[in-house]
Amino acid sequence: MKAAIIAAAGQLPEVRHLPDPGPPGLGQVLVAMLLAPINPADRQVITRSYAFPMSYPLILGAEGVGRVMAVGPGVQGIAEGDRVLPLHRGNWCSHRLVPADQLIVIPPDVPDDQAAMLRINPATAWRLLDQAWLGAGDWVIQNGANSVVARWVRLLASQRGVGVVNVARSPPAHRPGPQISGAEIWLADGPDLPTEAARALRGRPVPLALDCIAGAATARLANCVSPGGQVVIFGHLSGEDCVIPSGLLTGRGLTVRGFSLRPAEAPETPATMAALYSRLAGLACRPEAHTPVVATYPLDALSTALATAGSGVGRVLLALDR
Ligand SMILES: NC(=O)c1ccc[n+]([C@@H]2O[C@H](COP(=O)([O-])OP(=O)(O)OC[C@H]3O[C@@H](n4cnc5c(N)ncnc54)[C@H](OP(=O)(O)O)[C@@H]3O)[C@@H](O)[C@H]2O)c1
Repeated sequence: MKAAIIAAAGQLPEVRHLPDPGPPGLGQVLVAMLLAPINPADRQVITRSYAFPMSYPLILGAEGVGRVMAVGPGVQGIAEGDRVLPLHRGNWCSHRLVPADQLIVIPPDVPDDQAAMLRINPATAWRLLDQAWLGAGDWVIQNGANSVVARWVRLLASQRGVGVVNVARSPPAHRPGPQISGAEIWLADGPDLPTEAARALRGRPVPLALDCIAGAATARLANCVSPGGQVVIFGHLSGEDCVIPSGLLTGRGLTVRGFSLRPAEAPETPATMAALYSRLAGLACRPEAHTPVVATYPLDALSTALATAGSGVGRVLLALDR
């Protein structure tokens, strides 16, 4: 089998031939991986800016989709030929053995490329909204609004009747400046953000801010939040620590907290995880959920794929079966 590995801390990723994993044992499933995206978190693992400690050697890849080649004794509910999402890291490889309770079966109507991107970002958007007490008529503000997570936040918020203020350093050309379409407002990030947000919202409260940029962007976003609201930091694309004026915490009573998907879902049972992904898979076929793919590279072209990822809108995928 082939895998993209980092052999030791500080080393660059490389594609290596490793011994085949062998047949599945008790409760195990042999998966032939098909496709995996290159996400910001993968790039952070490579640059050692990821929030969690890593142990080495490691096989890269936060998520991906594969096809079941064989199931071991005692496995129920998963059959040869099913497409599955492994719940844990280590997906940039041609084959892996996975405990059956760490796999989610994906229905056939979700295309391979969209299935490959279903594990992390949709569930993140779901839990970011779910952990706040938002109801119909509430508003949430999010930066990094061109991101995949942000697209899912819009889709899931609209289903709950929650409006979204989208903040991007470059809002899409067809949505220039402050503009309300249904319950969506798009604004350019910058020093005038709090003023522009207040003008566009016309007094409607914003109890929740979702920040994936950090640095000074946190302060700008927090300044748009209503008294008693929350600022949730779930990414740091700026590469900087978040900055927040302490007066917003004392004077406005804001709460700041962090979020990460894997700890947030740790208390879930396999049944509740399966129910969530069944719901997300149902939404993944909708046009609003579609994540564009800019390029797909075989694992052997990993360096080119990594150099391409992170520029422009859309995802770079690795084809793991070539
Ligand atoms: N905590 C968790 O468990 C968790 C889980 C999933 C994702 N995340 C985080 O969520 C964020 C979004 O992930 P994603 O995969 O959806 O991202 P993505 O699709 O790759 O998009 C990233 C977006 O961020 C913008 N961006 C990048 N660097 C920026 C900067 N320095 N300042 C302002 N904007 C910047 C880009 O905007 P332009 O359009 O302007 O180029 C791009 O649209 C990332 O921070 C990721 O780490 C966290």
